[in-house]
Amino acid sequence: MTDLHTSIDKFQFNNVFMNASGVRCYTKDELDELAQSDAGTLVTKSATQTKRLGNPSPRYAPLELGSINSMGLPNEGLEYYLDYALDFQKAHPEKPIFLSVAGLSMEENLAMAHTIENSDFNGLVEFNLSCPNVPGKPQTGYDFDRTQEVLTNLFDFFTKPAGVKLPPYFDLAQFDQMATILNQFPLKFVNSINSLGNGLMIDPETDTALIKPKGGFGGIGGAYAKPIALANVRAFAQRLDPKIQLIGTGGVTNGRDAYDLILAGASLVQVGTLLQEEGTVAFTRLTRELRAVMQTKGYNAISDFRGQLKVLS
Ligand code: DHB
Repeated sequence: MTDLHTSIDKFQFNNVFMNASGVRCYTKDELDELAQSDAGTLVTKSATQTKRLGNPSPRYAPLELGSINSMGLPNEGLEYYLDYALDFQKAHPEKPIFLSVAGLSMEENLAMAHTIENSDFNGLVEFNLSCPNVPGKPQTGYDFDRTQEVLTNLFDFFTKPAGVKLPPYFDLAQFDQMATILNQFPLKFVNSINSLGNGLMIDPETDTALIKPKGGFGGIGGAYAKPIALANVRAFAQRLDPKIQLIGTGGVTNGRDAYDLILAGASLVQVGTLLQEEGTVAFTRLTRELRAVMQTKGYNAISDFRGQLKVLS
């Protein structure tokens, strides 16, 4: 039987698939459903220090080839997700999970990091530097000096296994600059990519933007994101210290999409729009389809083909 086992640092997972933060991970019930699905692990909704209601609705819309969203960081607050994670790790010591954190300022990120550092949490922390949807708050990941500053202050005291979630980049100089910054820090992973920020879609019946916040601007996910996600994972795999592993996120609608992200260098594959649209049964189908591709190619394990993308010479 083909084996979808994978690992990040010392953490072991029996399947490469997991949710992308934000999707079906807002409440404890949703998190429990992810935990009971075929996903290898899960990540909680990006947390702020205190509960937020987020942007006005409609704030998510499915599109022909994906989705648009401007949720605005609705979440129950760090304590809720940290409590969940602490209970979860007691009940499932064999299934490490990810806690996602997205402060609206460096101070808020550092305060949440202190809380996690001082807690019994023993999983992985994803510091989200790429939320595109809070009015007036630019994405940290597009400000290289700010990213350097945040990570410097963070790793001054933070010792738990952690990574960052990045926005998509579109120029090779950006990959070079960001990788140079990331390589200075004891990151266990980089998760690439968040949604394609600030797209716009229009309802042809009414000539109106599909979603309400920010005049209709929102993050684009789904099939639209696939080539950008592949390029970002590949570009970072080529530039990051091999100790920093890649989580590939973006454009997964079938097993071959996941296979491609793994070829580009991903050790885990996150599913966003598809999971939102299909629910956790998506993991069952993706698992079956990825296994089928691997069998066709003669691979028994993820490590047989991870990062093995071929290019034309
Ligand atoms: C939200 C969207 C994101 O892409 C993200 O990384 C964090 C939060 C949101 O709108 O809630």
